Amino acid sequence: MTAKLSLQGKTVLVTGASSGLGLEMARQLARDHHANPLLVARRKDRLEALAEELRGFGATPGVIAADLSKPADLDRCFAEATAIGVDAVILNAGVTYFGHTLAQTTADVAAIVATNVNGVVLLSQRFVPYLLERGGGAVMLVSSMAGFQPMPFQAVYGGSKAFVTSYGLALSEELRGKEVSVTVFCPGGIATEMTDTSGLSAKYPKGHPMVMDVEPCAKRALGAMIARHRLSVPGGLNKVAAFFAQMSPTRLVTRLVANDYRGALPR
Ligand SMILES: NC(=O)c1ccc[n+]([C@@H]2O[C@H](COP(=O)([O-])OP(=O)(O)OC[C@H]3O[C@@H](n4cnc5c(N)ncnc54)[C@H](OP(=O)(O)O)[C@@H]3O)[C@@H](O)[C@H]2O)c1
Repeated sequence: MTAKLSLQGKTVLVTGASSGLGLEMARQLARDHHANPLLVARRKDRLEALAEELRGFGATPGVIAADLSKPADLDRCFAEATAIGVDAVILNAGVTYFGHTLAQTTADVAAIVATNVNGVVLLSQRFVPYLLERGGGAVMLVSSMAGFQPMPFQAVYGGSKAFVTSYGLALSEELRGKEVSVTVFCPGGIATEMTDTSGLSAKYPKGHPMVMDVEPCAKRALGAMIARHRLSVPGGLNKVAAFFAQMSPTRLVTRLVANDYRGALPR
């Protein structure tokens, strides 16, 4: 498949649309691409406020309040979305944890695995056949540069993103020549709620050279999906860092991450 994705008038499901990258992608989809975002997250009030803003751009947005860590909500999300009709799917919702891995509660670990791994696999397993049946479309999985090497002090999160990248690239290859593309988007740090609530913004605040603003990051993400790229790392510095992470000895990169992150741990 070579044709670029056209989003005008199309319905694009965006998970994690209540904040950060998902919210900004939804905004740009409506404002710049004249698409109709279908907004998914747990905080319905935020989704409804965003839907109101998007109507101002002439879009017809939809809202599905769902907890994507719960299998029943994944079922309902798919059923409600396909009842409306979906042309492209952005699986962006995710949670993280920053700190000593052994101090992470069972609930924290379960939330990361259920949301970042199960949610992404189970929704893509449903939406890809659905889009194929409809004659075409696109799926984007928001992974992270954290998936390129082991992540001391973000071990479960890093593992979940390594999974998403590996899964997405494998799925993309299986779909080669078909009318549905799969894009794996791997940003580095982004100035969002996630960096604030995890405590990472203490070391990597907004404006730091390794932290992208959310607007350009969302623009790169949508551009990668439209161009049907298999893998996309936004930003020159991130591209260099991703190259070295993949080319250097794993032991060395893991030690460098540990040394860097140790200095940012909450006291
Ligand atoms: N920030 C970074 O530095 C960074 C770097 C690389 C990759 N990423 C990835 O980018 C994606 C977006 O992150 P962000 O930085 O925009 O974080 P964010 O501002 O914290 O947004 C996360 C979004 O995911 C939703 N979400 C979390 N758990 C959910 C659940 N169980 N069910 C449904 N929705 C859920 C949240 O909505 P509700 O709370 O309303 O449910 C929220 O809309 C994530 O996959 C993240 O791993 C982020």
